[in-house]
Amino acid sequence: MIVCVCNRLTETDVRTAARAGAATPEAAYARLDCEPQCGCCLDYAQEIIDEERAKRPHLRVVAA
Ligand code: FES
Repeated sequence: MIVCVCNRLTETDVRTAARAGAATPEAAYARLDCEPQCGCCLDYAQEIIDEERAKRPHLRVVAA
């Protein structure tokens, strides 16, 4: 499923970035070599990240 149309990021992309330590959409997108454009996806991306991090409370935060 596409999360970010502007950057063509899938849910899997965002989950992978979250598992790698990204705690925010900005950090996740930076790990994916892009950055938010219109911003429409940020709330949904944050939900995905929060869900992924809740499954793995040991994840450390990695800055963007
Ligand atoms: S849909 Fe993600 S920045 Fe526009």
